[in-house]
Amino acid sequence: MHTQPIGIFDSGLGGLSVWQEIRKILPAESTMYYADSANCPYGTRSKAEIITLSENIVKHLIDKGAKIIVVACNTVTIAAIDYLRAHYTIPFVGIEPAIKPATLYTRTGKVGVLATQSTLNSDKFQDIRAYYTTNSKIEVFTQVGYGLVEAVENQAMDSPETIALLQEYLGNLLAYKVDQIVLGCTHYPFLLPQMEAIVGGQASFLNPAPAVARQTKALLEKYAWLNQSSTLPTHTLETSGNQAVLETFVEGLFF
Ligand code: DGL
Repeated sequence: MHTQPIGIFDSGLGGLSVWQEIRKILPAESTMYYADSANCPYGTRSKAEIITLSENIVKHLIDKGAKIIVVACNTVTIAAIDYLRAHYTIPFVGIEPAIKPATLYTRTGKVGVLATQSTLNSDKFQDIRAYYTTNSKIEVFTQVGYGLVEAVENQAMDSPETIALLQEYLGNLLAYKVDQIVLGCTHYPFLLPQMEAIVGGQASFLNPAPAVARQTKALLEKYAWLNQSSTLPTHTLETSGNQAVLETFVEGLFF
């Protein structure tokens, strides 16, 4: 079990923001990343479609020998992780909008969440929001990031269209006086430089990817599945879309 890879997947390139954090804190582990870029975005799909698409990827990663699966996608976690956990015995790590740390850091008591339509409309997200609104006495304002996943998939992070979308969405959240903005989609950390330039210090951004990597490490420790062998880890990148696009994107990542 120890030398088997960590399986990681997303609707596309976004989950690489989680993969990067896993590689940083688990350098001895092999990884297999699957980007479903041909079916991206998931955020405007129904829960049933998201379950079908993600189940196919999970089967594929299990067939290829994954020892644990990281669902590096908020949209899939919210829509499908309960189903996946109920149907497969392999351990899953999921990612959800990081409202909890935002409640600890906020000084205005107002927190923004930028996420996909599917995530924000889900009952699960509404329950999380109600929990923190009641227990932490904060207000949570939401904004759907229409077009942002596509901007990252097309590597158009600096295009005038993308900057205009970000100005609109972040402007809407800042108008509510939020001082913490939760990145509720794993594609969005790849837009951080552009977002920080727009917000200019009026709010901080919260990316849950490092916490997901820590949770992955903790689970591997709990099962005693950490790779202890001296063989070098391998990293496989697969996509239902364009392999060259995926590899070029990865080459540009900072480790
Ligand atoms: N990276 C996915 C997430 O975290 C994007 C979903 C999509 O494909 O719309 O939600």
